[in-house]
Amino acid sequence: MSKNSDVVLEVNNLKIHFFTDEGTVKAVNGIDFYLEKGKTLGIIGESGCGKSVSAHSILRLIPSPPGKIVNGEIIYHDSSLNKDNGVVHIEQLNKKGKEIRNIRTNKIGIVFQEPMSSFCPHYTIGHQVAEAILIHNDELNKEQAHEKTVELLKQVGIPKAADRINDYPHQFSGGMRQRAMIAMALSCDPEILIADEPTTSLDVTVEAQILELLEDIQAERGMAIMLISHNLAVVSEVADWVAVMYLGKVMEKAPVGKIINNPLHPYTKGLISSIPKLEGELEELQPIKGIVPNPIDMPLGCPFAPRCERKVSDLCDKEVPAEIEIKPQHYARCFIYSEEVE
Ligand SMILES: Nc1ncnc2c1ncn2[C@@H]1O[C@H](COP(=O)(O)OP(=O)(O)OP(=O)(O)O)[C@@H](O)[C@H]1O
Ligand SMILES: [Mg+2]
Repeated sequence: MSKNSDVVLEVNNLKIHFFTDEGTVKAVNGIDFYLEKGKTLGIIGESGCGKSVSAHSILRLIPSPPGKIVNGEIIYHDSSLNKDNGVVHIEQLNKKGKEIRNIRTNKIGIVFQEPMSSFCPHYTIGHQVAEAILIHNDELNKEQAHEKTVELLKQVGIPKAADRINDYPHQFSGGMRQRAMIAMALSCDPEILIADEPTTSLDVTVEAQILELLEDIQAERGMAIMLISHNLAVVSEVADWVAVMYLGKVMEKAPVGKIINNPLHPYTKGLISSIPKLEGELEELQPIKGIVPNPIDMPLGCPFAPRCERKVSDLCDKEVPAEIEIKPQHYARCFIYSEEVE
């Protein structure tokens, strides 16, 4: 990916493993990406490929044990910090570190995958958003926090926000709850917003509204967004760049247009041919055959090799292909493009 001064977060060769009684789960197995100011990186991949674990690691939310960052760097760039020219190595800071607390609470907002479990059922939505505001702004009194809550809920499109703040989470529809979650994530005025499957349980109309909301907020605030989804069609609506994950690795990444119009990796091609098209002739959908291997018992070679219909060499089963820039700004891990097998 093109690295420039707008990079706010950098993840380099990150590996996160879970050491369980059944064996080592290599949940994230060497991923690299950047987040840029005002841009959205879409992360897509099937269930269990390591999307949420990657997101949680940025906030140091990996339960340890059994989880551990075993390799790599997560670097936060902040020109307002003097230390090392504003570079903070998130994974090296201990949990009580002042900088990590500052980054975690004031610079990065997260919308978790499960909106219902993110809100406590016993408190009103208004109370919970106000609490979050007070954590980030200790100079505010309760009345000011209340005003800011109404303002934030209005901003995320909750009608009659001044009345709805007295509702409990179960009184909100799924879409409204998701909007309230976004409001909570925005309470710290973050530079980075991580949205983990923010539209998965919503119907298509509400999904479109939430995506539009994220775009509007980004245009207004210039945040970097990491948008996680298992649905490439959803991500392609709003992302600037897309990273396609499979079994803990990024198999392909590029600007969204290149991924959709000219996918290079057989896995991405499979994902695209399994998306129904709205225009043109009706085509038969081609789901990817086979199932994702158990992450405890990973294939020796390319993680996708056991399901790949375009294997080019024995190497596919023996070695993990390196990530290469196959075309300008278009990266993939696949021996099809490797000189070793030509
Ligand atoms: N606390 C844990 N202990 C052991 N394994 C874990 C733990 N948390 C996650 N994993 C494993 O790590 C892998 C990646 O999980 P992750 O939640 O990141 O997947 P995901 O891509 O977000 O999937 P989904 O689309 O279903 O949300 C999975 O194999 C999962 O079982
Ligand atoms: Mg997940």
